[in-house]
Amino acid sequence: MHSKPEAPLDHSRVKAWLLEGDPAALRRLWAEADAVRAAHVGDEVHLRGLIEVSSHCIRHCLYCGLRAPSEGLDRYRMEAGEILACAQEAIQLGYGSVVIQGGEDPGLTRTFIASVVRRIKAHTPLAVTLSLGERSDGDLLAWREAGADRYLLRFETSDPHLYNRIHPNLPGTVSDRFAQLERMRAMGYEIGTGVMVGIPGQTWGTLAADILRFQDFDMDMIGVGPFIPSPRTPLGGKDVLAFLAAPADQVPSDELTTLKAVALTRLVCPDANIPSTTALATLDRARGRELALMRGANVVMPNVTPVPYRVRYEIYPGKACINETATACRGCLEGRIQALGRRVAKGPGGRKRTECKDSSVM
Ligand code: 5AD
Ligand code: FES
Repeated sequence: MHSKPEAPLDHSRVKAWLLEGDPAALRRLWAEADAVRAAHVGDEVHLRGLIEVSSHCIRHCLYCGLRAPSEGLDRYRMEAGEILACAQEAIQLGYGSVVIQGGEDPGLTRTFIASVVRRIKAHTPLAVTLSLGERSDGDLLAWREAGADRYLLRFETSDPHLYNRIHPNLPGTVSDRFAQLERMRAMGYEIGTGVMVGIPGQTWGTLAADILRFQDFDMDMIGVGPFIPSPRTPLGGKDVLAFLAAPADQVPSDELTTLKAVALTRLVCPDANIPSTTALATLDRARGRELALMRGANVVMPNVTPVPYRVRYEIYPGKACINETATACRGCLEGRIQALGRRVAKGPGGRKRTECKDSSVM
């Protein structure tokens, strides 16, 4: 890779960066992503308290341990009072927002979620993000009217063929997450999306297209984490062989590739909120959170789910921080953030649009 003058980050250049192996070139990529992060979203790291409200799910996603056919899971759905207690704990820990996440669970009814959101918004200054999968416009509108600020729905891959293989439609419906994201934006939600890195069947070209899709869609929040095989799923066992792309094309689900994807996402979406994901921390407990924060990320989503529930929310095994109390994780994170010369943000931390500045060295 050459330095200036540089062509814009089009598909072939994003793909070339994903494949880049030269340490000196990668140091330039890391430095540029970090500089763009500092210029557009600053040194503050926003902490969002994650509340995993239900492990029930009606879907059959081939990658996710909570899929309906997973047996032997001790499924749970939190009561409203328990969710509100988690929100209170998030406030005590100084978090400016909570993320209410769950499987696609019809037991989380429109009225139940609306009432939980309304109560959080009435009694706290928290921004409320929902991450409850594919839901009807009626649900989404009711929750927005109840005060929900943001919605996270990863599109998982921009390759429609791969998407349909790993994310089977429910009978009689066609899943279109891009359309839902656009409808939620029209409803006034801040919208977040993302993909897994190294999902079986994901090629270098597909991942490059995913990253450019974040930019085309002008996403407010973008989560990019490694795929971690779950033995409860078809993609976590020997069936995976039928899904893999040719060896030269298949993206590995490793830390380096994930960090490249995070850095490139920052370059194409300079003012988006980008988390350092728990999945990356799971791959590299010692340095995963820090490395993403040093290479483009500006958000962390520490878990505030009561420990007895969160161990049952097993999307993939071995999740980082799973046995840490919310208070311990808060303290640990603050130390890690300060050691990077950064600081924990106060307040809800919504997206602030900045003037587009040309990136200097890419
Ligand atoms: N490994 C990593 N991430 C996963 N997710 C689901 N299953 C896995 C897995 N096995 C991610 C999906 C989903 C988000 C909630 O978790 O991207 O959107
Ligand atoms: Fe959660 Fe350290 S980041 S315990």
